[in-house]
Amino acid sequence: MTPTATPRRYLMCRPTHFAVTYRINPWMDPTAPYDNALAVSQWEHLRQTFLDLGHTVELIEPLPGLPDMVFAANGATVVDGKVLAVQFRDAERADEAPAYAGWFAGNGFEVFESKHTNEGEGDILLAGDVLLAGTGFRTSHAAHAQTQEIFGRPVITLQLVDPAYYHLDTALCVLDERNIAYLPSAFSPGSQAVLRRLFPDAVIATPADAEVLGLNAVSDGRTVVLPVQATALTAALRERGYATVGVDVSELRKAGGGPKCCTLEVRTRD
Ligand code: ARG
Repeated sequence: MTPTATPRRYLMCRPTHFAVTYRINPWMDPTAPYDNALAVSQWEHLRQTFLDLGHTVELIEPLPGLPDMVFAANGATVVDGKVLAVQFRDAERADEAPAYAGWFAGNGFEVFESKHTNEGEGDILLAGDVLLAGTGFRTSHAAHAQTQEIFGRPVITLQLVDPAYYHLDTALCVLDERNIAYLPSAFSPGSQAVLRRLFPDAVIATPADAEVLGLNAVSDGRTVVLPVQATALTAALRERGYATVGVDVSELRKAGGGPKCCTLEVRTRD
């Protein structure tokens, strides 16, 4: 079967105030140098890539003092036009939650308040009809139950075990309605078994792919936008018939984020 693309609507946040000033994941080193201007140009290139693929990109105003706000995937979970707002684990990111909820409310969406720690699409990914949900570092198990209630879709809990892959979207990428790519060692043995059962034909990423956040990729069902450094994963995806576009977001990786972290999918009701 040839993979087919469906047009997507994405919400992004320009990294105007991007910085690495605190450490809430192992990738972040507040003492290491970073280049804000380079982060902005890498992000602009990512946005242009989505536009060139025919997708819609909407923008939320970046707020000063919120250096991680560029990671829009953590701003909400949006399925069937319903928005589940977020609640960050760390105080440093807390003020992003009302900013994203406000954007959705202001754009006419029904917004549900999060009752538990929930970092949005960083940990909750729509795969066909079900939601795959990570826990262990950020989003709580209780948030998975709330997610299932709100969206009325089965939520499959997956236990993350490697602190380097603290959000589900750093260890697993949804490629299309049927398939995913993932790094098995980022999951508990039971969760690995669940993934094998649900996705027997999944693309298995190598540790080297994951170390460049190669799995933090955005797919429209046909074209996968992924870090250019993830060479083995790129080859594996092409072998399966997907198109790939490599992007360099190395500056954002210093905060532990890749292309997917910068991209929140806005799924309206069809
Ligand atoms: N520095 C951010 C944090 O640790 C990076 C977030 C990356 N986002 C993602 N969807 N994985 O919260």
